[in-house]
Amino acid sequence: MKTPTISTLTFVLFVIFSCSWAASAHDHEDFLECLAHQFKNRNISISNFVYTSKNSSYASILRFSIQNLRFALESTPKPLVIVTPEHESQIPPVIRCAKKNDMQIRTRSGGHDHEGLSYVSEVPFVILDLIKFSEIIVDVEQKTAWVESGATIGSLYYRIAEKSSTLGFPAGTCQTMGTGGHFSGGGYGTLVRKYGLSADNVIDARIVDVHGRILDRTAMGEDLFWAIRGGGGASFGVILAWKLQLVDVPEKVTVFRIQKTLEQNATQLIHRWQSIAHKFDQDLFMRVILVRTNTNTNQDGRNMTILSVFNSMFLGGIDRLLPLMQKSFPELGLVKEDCTEMSWIQSILYFAVIPRDKPEVLLNRTQQYVRYFKAKSDYVQNPIPENGLEGIWQLFYEFTKEEDAQAVIVMSPYGGRMDEISESALPFPHRAGNLYKIEYLVFWVEKVAQNSDTYISWIRRLYDYMALYASKSPRAAYMNYRDLDIGVINNDKGKISYAGASTWGIKYFKNNFDRLVRIKTMVDPHNFFRNEQSIPSLH
Ligand SMILES: Cc1cc2nc3c(=O)[nH]c(=O)nc-3n(C[C@H](O)[C@H](O)[C@H](O)COP(=O)(O)OP(=O)(O)OC[C@H]3O[C@@H](n4cnc5c(N)ncnc54)[C@H](O)[C@@H]3O)c2cc1C
Ligand SMILES: *[C@@H]1O[C@H](CO)[C@@H](O)[C@H](O)[C@H]1NC(C)=O
Ligand SMILES: *[C@@H]1O[C@H](CO)[C@@H](O)[C@H](O)[C@H]1NC(C)=O
Ligand SMILES: *[C@@H]1O[C@H](CO)[C@@H](O)[C@H](O)[C@H]1NC(C)=O
Ligand SMILES: *[C@@H]1O[C@H](CO)[C@@H](O)[C@H](O)[C@H]1NC(C)=O
Ligand SMILES: *[C@@H]1O[C@H](CO)[C@@H](O)[C@H](O)[C@H]1NC(C)=O
Repeated sequence: MKTPTISTLTFVLFVIFSCSWAASAHDHEDFLECLAHQFKNRNISISNFVYTSKNSSYASILRFSIQNLRFALESTPKPLVIVTPEHESQIPPVIRCAKKNDMQIRTRSGGHDHEGLSYVSEVPFVILDLIKFSEIIVDVEQKTAWVESGATIGSLYYRIAEKSSTLGFPAGTCQTMGTGGHFSGGGYGTLVRKYGLSADNVIDARIVDVHGRILDRTAMGEDLFWAIRGGGGASFGVILAWKLQLVDVPEKVTVFRIQKTLEQNATQLIHRWQSIAHKFDQDLFMRVILVRTNTNTNQDGRNMTILSVFNSMFLGGIDRLLPLMQKSFPELGLVKEDCTEMSWIQSILYFAVIPRDKPEVLLNRTQQYVRYFKAKSDYVQNPIPENGLEGIWQLFYEFTKEEDAQAVIVMSPYGGRMDEISESALPFPHRAGNLYKIEYLVFWVEKVAQNSDTYISWIRRLYDYMALYASKSPRAAYMNYRDLDIGVINNDKGKISYAGASTWGIKYFKNNFDRLVRIKTMVDPHNFFRNEQSIPSLH
């Protein structure tokens, strides 16, 4: 049997799913009855926020936050029920009834999980969709904010900037991400070198635990509070909201985008960038984006070349930036004309490629270009030699020539604040010693979806090639760039194998994995909150 539109791994999961589905012949009516009963005394009708496939809006609500079309196929396992609570008191009953009826819960905030784990499961499941949990309260005086987990980071940025032009928050560059998944897995963006991760700047949180208790930092205790800042929320409960320490940003930042092809010495520039980007002034974030592009002027007679984009933000004006660049990276040839000064919120728009006069786009949850994609990640601790980079170019040339499919590599510098935070401060362990992180991405559209396997094999081949240059023992990975290729555990019925989890567990969390397992065992011993890569309980 062959299904060309989905990856082999996903296909295997489908087969497993269809078996357990048929075998369990699950009756979600019991779950709905349980929910109705839970709400009866409170005189709340569940029909306002509970959807089954019979409801006409079920499909559109499911689809709305799917950010990877690989998991929007007809054959993708669907939830029996979707719950979109409006108030936190509506969540404990969902947990109680799911437990009672042996249904899994998948919590979804922004839906950007690379492998769709917030809305796909092989076993009977409910989606707890936090799309209505989007309140944001900014306290300029205290420099703090409370943000609900279903709020997008775009709306967070917008609400902060609305109240202050000199406060910001370190988080990612894609405005539609939910704070629930993004912060619980780490969260980095252009402020990472100055202020670290989103998780590094979370100072309190509210969570619903497996017993349905709503706990703040004091009530949950420091162990659980540690675990949900980088260890992923999905293993531990349902995060309702975060309290954030906002950070200072100058009135004026500078952005620039310098593009160089191989003919313009991109290889040498990237080689050099590797040894200096993590040592730059902390105010400078300069990432490199690599793509293949067509050309007719290639010296080697190829009609393709590699385009590298040095995509940067500096927390200060052009006058201070230029001498710094002249001193550390004169080879790039940055001049005043390449630079634009703007406010911090405008730099958010710049990185998200939103027109400067349209900040309200940050409040729009609809992703404009939802595509099929597969991504993987690596950390680099020693500069890749030039001939190593040339091997990457070769693989780029071998990627499909179809215009509807693209391959991208993004290299994001570490150093600065990231070097100052200890590996065990939070579950996220990738700190000093890392020069930069790589994200490998392939994405494509419906028209060529029959070739999905080809694109996924290509990125796996690239990942194999990079083994020589990436971090080793473990070959580390970023949890928020979830990748099921690096291991899954059979989590059905709560039966899990600790050994199976250690591959991805050690890659994502290094020595912090053991502490995560101890905390998981303490707070959710029977492993109710689980997915293919959730922290196992030793119970
Ligand atoms: C287009 C795109 C751009 C990205 N850019 C960046 C970037 O710039 N920087 C970066 O660091 N990462 C980036 N990422 C990765 C991103 O950080 C993760 O995918 C993150 O988990 C997304 O959070 P979410 O709430 O949108 O996802 P979801 O899919 O909703 O959730 C992700 C995981 O967290 C769990 N979860 C979600 N909400 C809760 C909650 N309230 N309580 C408990 N568990 C919860 C889910 O069950 C799932 O396991 C990007 C991803 C995409 C698709
Ligand atoms: C329950 O709600 C309905 C409609 O909102 C209202 O008419 C009724 O009086 C309420 N009953 C009680 C006991 O509060
Ligand atoms: C779903 O359908 C049921 C039965 O038709 C209806 O009572 C309920 O109001 C619908 N729920 C929503 C949220 O629209
Ligand atoms: C590329 O590097 C070579 C050798 O260092 C140099 O001669 C040449 O001028 C550079 N080309 C560009 C476009 O900078
Ligand atoms: C590049 O060259 C290949 C092989 O010679 C050819 O098939 C292709 O059409 C060319 N592409 C462009 C954009 O010129
Ligand atoms: C939100 O963005 C989507 C995609 O770009 C667009 O189609 C839609 O019109 C926008 N909605 C609003 C209210 O601007």
